[in-house]
Amino acid sequence: MCGIIGAVSEQVTNTLIEGLGKLEYRGYDSSGISLLNKKEIETVKVTGKLINLKNRLEEKPMQGYFGIGHTRWATHGQANQENAHPHQCGKVSVVHNGIIENYLMLKERLTRQGHHFCSETDSEVVPHLINHYLSLDFSCEEAINRALIDIEGSYALAILIGGDHSQLYAVKNESPLVISEGNEGLYIASDVLALDADATKIYYPKNNELIRLGQNGINRCNKKKSGTKIHYLKNTKKRVCVDKGSHTSFMEKEIIEQISLFKSFCFDSFNENFSNVDFKKLNKISIVACGTSFYAASVAKYWLEKYAHINVDVDIASEYRYRSPIINDNELAIFVSQSGETADTLAALHYAKAKNCQTMGLVNVATSTIAREVDFMHEIHAGPEIGVASTKAFTCQLAMFYKMMIEAAKQRTSIDSEILYQLKIDFLKLPNLIESIIKCSLQIKLLAQQLSSYENMIFIGRGALSPIASEGALKLKEVSYLHAEAYAAGELKHGPIALLDEHMPVVVIAPKSELTDKLISNIQEAKARRAPIFIIGDRKVCKHFGLLKNHVFELPDVPESIAPIISVVPLQLLALYCGQLKGKNVDQPRNLAKSVTVE
Ligand code: AGP
Repeated sequence: MCGIIGAVSEQVTNTLIEGLGKLEYRGYDSSGISLLNKKEIETVKVTGKLINLKNRLEEKPMQGYFGIGHTRWATHGQANQENAHPHQCGKVSVVHNGIIENYLMLKERLTRQGHHFCSETDSEVVPHLINHYLSLDFSCEEAINRALIDIEGSYALAILIGGDHSQLYAVKNESPLVISEGNEGLYIASDVLALDADATKIYYPKNNELIRLGQNGINRCNKKKSGTKIHYLKNTKKRVCVDKGSHTSFMEKEIIEQISLFKSFCFDSFNENFSNVDFKKLNKISIVACGTSFYAASVAKYWLEKYAHINVDVDIASEYRYRSPIINDNELAIFVSQSGETADTLAALHYAKAKNCQTMGLVNVATSTIAREVDFMHEIHAGPEIGVASTKAFTCQLAMFYKMMIEAAKQRTSIDSEILYQLKIDFLKLPNLIESIIKCSLQIKLLAQQLSSYENMIFIGRGALSPIASEGALKLKEVSYLHAEAYAAGELKHGPIALLDEHMPVVVIAPKSELTDKLISNIQEAKARRAPIFIIGDRKVCKHFGLLKNHVFELPDVPESIAPIISVVPLQLLALYCGQLKGKNVDQPRNLAKSVTVE
């Protein structure tokens, strides 16, 4: 993760700070900038959120024309000032996103040569290596290229070189980077969203393509490509101003926004129908994702197998390529990602592509790397999601899978036309149902007050609600730091039941389903072990246990097909309220980042 930015412009400080603000979703452990002022590099770094850097620059403004900046998600070394970027050695200052895998070996080598390191980071070896080659009288380009040969790992680098050279360079390997030329400046960033308003023409460099930004504009400077023309794309990304309005947090805003998003899914853009895929020909679908997106994929498995009768494999992206999956002819691999930049998901996509598998992306950020690299791209239309904990992107992913399931079932004639019709009708009920849940948020607050008095808890659900239990537990962990684990309800008795006593509540996700009676038995088993029971479920289940008001949230009567989408909304609110009751920053929880661009 980490966000990098660079600019050659009169307005360099503003451009860097504004850009870093848009990159803060990539990490917010520390931030820093380096500016080149009359051949000298001046650097400022602070710990914590970007506001600290802004305040610092207000107290002590900096001048320059060339600059680089960084917002950090700590991988190597704590979130302190020494480990904050930029890292400098001599006249070379560097910001890095990615991981230098062989940094220890390089650090030892450089230390033996007399280099002194100030941080515990992997990144600091980069300026030292470049400086080492500069000291051997190589040109800037040659020094950087030689350093890149030494380095193993993933990187997006912005390199500022002072002295007589005064140049800014950018290069990447498997980490996102965009370059841009505007009328008033030259820019680089980890994400097109962070670019200056002036950045009208953009270019996505290839791995290890070294780019120089300087008085002569933007130039390629690898030997073979040196001087060749760069073919820019038009930057079509609208600069949307996202603020949380009157909401307490972006997370709250984004949960509520699901009402309007589903209205538009139902009544405006339901034409996203996946008819470009020949589902009849497919004999398998593999869905690959991480975290919340993985849970959306896991729900999709239930839907696609039940209604479209397609064999579906679901994989956690970090496991997929290392388990050597067998890819068949007529297989479709779907990559699900809010950010479209998740390193594990991207690596899994590369694996599938190398095996000549057809690939599809379900991605929120349409300009992202995954979106650009898949064969078929489907945008999930959730709009910018700022809260680090994913909420609306999850339900939009589910909505897309639901549409996919309908198209697949239609093409494969796997269900009667009446059932197919009913599935479409069920979907149209979603906006009102989501709204009715959000209207009852006070009731969920009561639950949150009770639940947040425990330190540990277990979430359970059955069938397609089992991944929803996992998503509910993940959300709670992320924003309240309470310890929650999830199990398929039937699994409880196979081990986790040993944890149950009066201090270990069980949160049951129980909308009406054909498995309700079995779930009731699972709840009985937990109750018999004195576990406090919390139910988010159907009236029948809630009534059955006669629980206190602050232990139940009654779900509306929902068709089983759409129950996963409906049931997750109270869980999102539950996590939000627990986080707020615990006094946490629910939008930027500790240790997390919105875009996980390291393996
Ligand atoms: C969601 O709340 C999490 N922050 C996280 O699990 C996330 O879903 C995961 O990192 C995958 O991200 P992606 O959807 O952007 O690929």
